[in-house]
Amino acid sequence: MPKSPYPSLDREQLTLLAAWIEAGGPEQSIDGERPAEEPDVLLPTFESINTFVLKAKCVVCHTPGKSAGNIPLLTKSDLLDSPYDLVVPGEADSSGLILVLKINARKKMPPESSGIDAVTPDQITVIKQWINNGGQD
Ligand code: HEC
Repeated sequence: MPKSPYPSLDREQLTLLAAWIEAGGPEQSIDGERPAEEPDVLLPTFESINTFVLKAKCVVCHTPGKSAGNIPLLTKSDLLDSPYDLVVPGEADSSGLILVLKINARKKMPPESSGIDAVTPDQITVIKQWINNGGQD
C-alpha cells in the first residue's frame, strides 16, 4: 500500500467508523439512533415502559404484519383501549399486560422460544405501579 498523505485514524475514529458501517452507512449521525441505556431505576411512566420494555421486548411481534399483529403494543392507546383489557387503570392485577408477565402465566410473554430476555421483576413492579397510578403519562 502506498504511504498515505493523511494521518492514520486513531482507535476512537476506527470504532466510530466501524459502528457507522455496521449501521449500514447512514447519512444521518448514528448517535441519535443508539438504543437508550436502561437507567438503574425505571420511572413508572409510559415513556420509559415503552422504551425499555415494549420496544425492547415485545414490539418485534406485536406490530401489524407480525405474528401478534392483532394485539399491537405500540402506543398508549393500544394498551388503554385494547379489547384484551391490557391495562385496567388502577387494577394492575387484572390487567392483561401484567397477567402475561407472571412467572406461571399460561401464555408467558415474551415467549421463551423467542430468545428475548424476560421482563425483570423490577420492570414488572414499575409497570404495575404505572397501571395502579392510572396508566396515564
Ligand atoms: C416472539 C414473538 C412475541 C414476543 C416477543 C411477544 N409476544 Fe406477546 N404474543 C405473541 C403471540 C404470537 C401471541 C398470540 C398468542 C395466541 O394467539 O394465543 C401473543 C399474545 C400476547 C398477549 C395476549 C395473551 C392472551 O391471553 O391471549 C399479550 C397480552 C401479549 N402477547 C403481551 C406481550 C408482551 C407484554 C410482550 C413483551 C414483554 C410480548 N407479548 C412479547 C408473540 C410475541
